Amino acid sequence: EKAGYKHFMAKEIAEQPVVIADALRHYISGGALALPEGLDFTSVDRLTLVACGTASYACLVAKYWFEQIAGLPCEVDIASEFRYREPPLSDRSWALFVSQSGETADTLAALRYASGKVAKVVSVCNVPTSSIARESDLALPILAGVEVGVASTKAFTCQLTVLALMALKAAADRGRLDGPALAAHLADLATLPGLMNHALRLAGDIAHIAEELAEAQDILFLGRGPMFPLAMEGALKLKEISYIHAEGYASGELKHGPIALIDARVPVIVMAPKDTLFEKTVSNMQEVMARHGKVLLISDMAGVQAAGMGCWQTLTLPAAPALLAPILYAIPAQLLAYHTAIAKGTDVDQPRNLAKSVTVE
Ligand code: F6R
Repeated sequence: EKAGYKHFMAKEIAEQPVVIADALRHYISGGALALPEGLDFTSVDRLTLVACGTASYACLVAKYWFEQIAGLPCEVDIASEFRYREPPLSDRSWALFVSQSGETADTLAALRYASGKVAKVVSVCNVPTSSIARESDLALPILAGVEVGVASTKAFTCQLTVLALMALKAAADRGRLDGPALAAHLADLATLPGLMNHALRLAGDIAHIAEELAEAQDILFLGRGPMFPLAMEGALKLKEISYIHAEGYASGELKHGPIALIDARVPVIVMAPKDTLFEKTVSNMQEVMARHGKVLLISDMAGVQAAGMGCWQTLTLPAAPALLAPILYAIPAQLLAYHTAIAKGTDVDQPRNLAKSVTVE
């Protein structure tokens, strides 16, 4: 069942290029978007995205996309807060629920709260027969296949892929993206499986770095823009399976508190493709290095060349179009957690205290 892999998590990490290609084939046809009918964003004035855990980080990445590419205002909330805050919802808005299992109790309750208050309830689930998929007006499967490892991996990148396609659809519907620009984004997305295969080849280097990470008490992850949710995802994955305390922060928040934690024993993992925000993140990284923090820079060739000097370690990913970067950078985040857990000898597929599907609140 593990197809020769030691753990389901390793198998599911490795499967990502294939399942992402499946999802792209399902939702792109003849070079055009083939999303379900009814997914028409023309008169939507606001999107509320709700989820738990890793799925909520997918929503946070999607907020950057919906707002920047489609000009559609978004709010993201975790389901356990959303459901009891009982926020006012406009009947011109849509609510979008993201869940691998489709059975998460808080997310389902949040969906039931939004039903009837918004113009449309949309869900992005891995299990198409799940309660959340069944109770939404429109359900988009992510086609990741069965995910057994408790720590979510391929479901996260498939969620991101489907959310990216939805953001492109929203941009096209709202007149923010003409035909050629949309086609260029779709052509970029077609390169994602190949880029992910490249990223998977970092496993050996990551296993090596993980041996030292396994000694740490605390680890910080930093990122800016759509890399901020990726920093939180990297930290969550690491704490779930290696039991090392980790936090993800927006790079710009560093000097507002967490920098007090930095010393030579705290590894700081900086996720920073060489994009428009790169210089800003590098200056935050240098503040860490000035306090003898051990920096692991994850970037592309241009980024590592520009800023890798003085880092404790660097990992070089292939250069990727901005839309793809958050999906691609999930792979080193997952591999870092996996190999750190292996170095610590923890139970990767069945971490203590965790359940795959949280059907009670
Ligand atoms: C993290 C993880 C959890 C889930 C969360 C939501 O690796 O697996 O944080 O993402 O419990 O689960 P779903 O997506 O099934 O609603």
